[in-house]
Amino acid sequence: MSDFYDRLTPFYHLIHQDWHASVALQGEQLTRLIDAEWPGKRRLLDVSCGIGTQAIGLARRGFSVAASDLSEKEIERARREAELAGAKVDFSVCDMRRAHEHHGSGFDIVLSCDNSLPHLLTDADLLTALRQMFACLSPGGGFLMSMRDYEREERGVNLVKPYGARTEDGKRYVLFQVWDFEGEHYDLTFYFIEENLATQAVHTHALRSRYYAISTDQMCALMREAGFVQVRRIDGAFYQPILVGTRPA
Ligand SMILES: C[S@@+](CC[C@H](N)C(=O)[O-])C[C@H]1O[C@@H](n2cnc3c(N)ncnc32)[C@H](O)[C@@H]1O
Repeated sequence: MSDFYDRLTPFYHLIHQDWHASVALQGEQLTRLIDAEWPGKRRLLDVSCGIGTQAIGLARRGFSVAASDLSEKEIERARREAELAGAKVDFSVCDMRRAHEHHGSGFDIVLSCDNSLPHLLTDADLLTALRQMFACLSPGGGFLMSMRDYEREERGVNLVKPYGARTEDGKRYVLFQVWDFEGEHYDLTFYFIEENLATQAVHTHALRSRYYAISTDQMCALMREAGFVQVRRIDGAFYQPILVGTRPA
């Protein structure tokens, strides 16, 4: 898993049409969501921060942010991106299944965005991670995650998911994923076709990972089992469904 993201790190921003614009937009959308659910809460932990897409935007909006990820390379890049953006974020490497052991408690908000939790392949692992995040929160604190809506995704093999093309530094990148389902799990290959526009030399990067295509209802049930209350799904506020839950006061 961390190998997939370590290798993805130099290309990660290309997943977005304009990564810096996504950082700003997601920071704005998440601030609005947090202020609506848990007004005034500002001490935030991102347990799957990647290169800092949410953590940097939220730090720039006045949140006090600690952020971690399993991938060392992503954390190295997140530190560089935060410095360039003038954002203060306390980054570290940590498996979200050990978030509380690593970060301790006292956070107002814990978040995990862009379909990170479905990288955990069993209900037992998801429950371990959710319980650790619950323990990171102060009473009354909130958990917020975003994930794909797997109920709306076709099942099968050789499913192609296009991500478009980007041009950068004299190179064109064409991005797409191929999914192969096996029961409730699927193997994903993320292809980055890199073309040097001056020489026409082409190089393909193929990165592989596996996901658990869990439904949002099942995820909500696991959140309740981990102790969260007022668990619900919010649509239309972010590019993926958001799930929220609160640690009882
Ligand atoms: C799709 S990326 C999203 C990253 C970031 N939130 C964003 O939106 O750019 C999923 C992230 O989950 C991280 N991840 C997967 N399993 C993890 C685990 N067990 N603990 C911590 N991070 C994990 C990956 O390393 C990756 O950075």
